[in-house]
Amino acid sequence: MEKVVSGIRPTGNLHLGNYFGAVKSFLQMQDEYDCLFFIADWHSLTTRPKPEDIVRSANTILAEYLACGIDPEKAPIYIQSDVREVLELYLYLNMNAYLGELERTTTFKEKARKQPDNVNAGLLTYPTLMAADILIHKADKVPVGKDQEQNMEMARRYARRFNTIYGVECFKEPKSFSPSDKPVKIPGLDGSGKMGKSEGNCIYLIDDAATIRKKVMKAVTDAGPTAPDSEKPEVIQNLFTLMEAVSPRETYDYFNEKWNDCSIRYGDMKKQLAEDIVATTAPIRERIMQYLSDTDRLAKIAAAGAERARESASKTIEEVRQIIGFRPR
Ligand code: TRP
Repeated sequence: MEKVVSGIRPTGNLHLGNYFGAVKSFLQMQDEYDCLFFIADWHSLTTRPKPEDIVRSANTILAEYLACGIDPEKAPIYIQSDVREVLELYLYLNMNAYLGELERTTTFKEKARKQPDNVNAGLLTYPTLMAADILIHKADKVPVGKDQEQNMEMARRYARRFNTIYGVECFKEPKSFSPSDKPVKIPGLDGSGKMGKSEGNCIYLIDDAATIRKKVMKAVTDAGPTAPDSEKPEVIQNLFTLMEAVSPRETYDYFNEKWNDCSIRYGDMKKQLAEDIVATTAPIRERIMQYLSDTDRLAKIAAAGAERARESASKTIEEVRQIIGFRPR
């Protein structure tokens, strides 16, 4: 079976956009591939997080992904910093990574602009750490968004370069891919397009019913359709897109007809939409709370994940050490 590896950047809570995007594709992949997911906590050190935030965010991510249906038996989930073999490979890859190419990385340039007082070496070598994350398991495929394409290019380049330097076929070049079911793009409710943390327009899986209702009722609308069967302006289309994701088909069709014959009342539609979002997220929220109240269980799941990750990681490291000329550990 093909091997899929994916890193989860520890940023904030999961929102509906994440749920119908990345999370749904993880759920699909865990049935189709030999998956390994990890929380990229070493990567997060580039911005100097507080120790308590690191612990909290690892627990939250674990709880949220498990609550969404990631099955650690099928797809082990581990915390990157539990698997030190990654660091060793990171070091070896860094020895063959050139300053020029690292400096030219878009993500580096962006970060350097964002935090000019902390342009650290970790930021510069982010792509080699990411390459180590992937190559350590000899992954075939990595599900990543467009913003990670350049980092994937570099992972392939470092795999090739290592093979060339030592005249071996140790690493294969990992492919970027998107799962066969196209993830739904969830819009924000403020008319700004995409739902996203930085846009501040998110409905989170951990939002309670009252919060969700309030957010949905505040959604931007317009004065209403002026002619039958007219095209929907973006803010209205957004409501329909959300409804398509969370509501039964009949509900969507009902309001679509109301739009088409100009009898739609946005208040009614929003009320329905809010209830259907709550119905989608409430059971997940419930499970998140359960996991978060049982940190022992989370620790066990992470430990089991690390164990599985170490199996393939240590195999690769032994091979790499031998290729480089080091003694076996
Ligand atoms: N760079 C990825 C992001 O920002 C997170 C990540 C780190 C990752 N290591 C990885 C993703 C390895 C896939 C594989 O989203």
